[in-house]
Amino acid sequence: MKVAVMCTGSGTNLQALLDAEDGGTLGARIVLVISNRSKAFALKRAKSSGREAMVLRARDFETENAYADELLSVLKDRGIELICLAGYLKRLPAKLVAEFRGRILNIHPGPLPRFGGQGMFGHHVHESVIASGVRESGPTVFFVDEEYDTGAIIAFTPVPVQPGDTPDTLARRVLAAEHLLYPRVVAAVVKGQVQLQDGKCVGRLND
Ligand code: GRF
Repeated sequence: MKVAVMCTGSGTNLQALLDAEDGGTLGARIVLVISNRSKAFALKRAKSSGREAMVLRARDFETENAYADELLSVLKDRGIELICLAGYLKRLPAKLVAEFRGRILNIHPGPLPRFGGQGMFGHHVHESVIASGVRESGPTVFFVDEEYDTGAIIAFTPVPVQPGDTPDTLARRVLAAEHLLYPRVVAAVVKGQVQLQDGKCVGRLND
């Protein structure tokens, strides 16, 4: 199965997926990395691992429809069957979501739905988790729908919030858990062990 990864920033989750592919545990080939930011370090990671890297920004198109058509044409041209968002900070055009329903994954650095939604990314999530007083955070992987962070949840890894945690210390532990979780989920989706059915996630990850 051919996979595209979409990133805005550093791309450590992209790296975890590339490493899993190289280690033979992903069961899929990452053939394309798309970013909406030309300076994203993720693009360098893609190029240095020999993958095609591309910048596509909605603002360079006259309409969202034209942007969606370009994305779709690029993805179809390369035979992409699964899209993994990995720190991609824009909402995808509804047309793309509809065409790839059940075949777009995202990872969020906190429990969903409570700590998700528009504007809830990066340190905002960890600040909000700490301010709420909950004892547990952790990454969530879900199927992408038309809204921010509302799609069917596939898997969550609990990460305890420690006394004295700052957004930075918590972020580091959650990110380490992300790097283990995301490749496992992608592998399970590739194998058909989990899938989206009638808006719900069915199946489960192997332990
Ligand atoms: C991760 O925390 C991920 O959960 C969120 O954005 C961050 C991306 O980090 N969606 P990186 O670019 O993979 O290092």
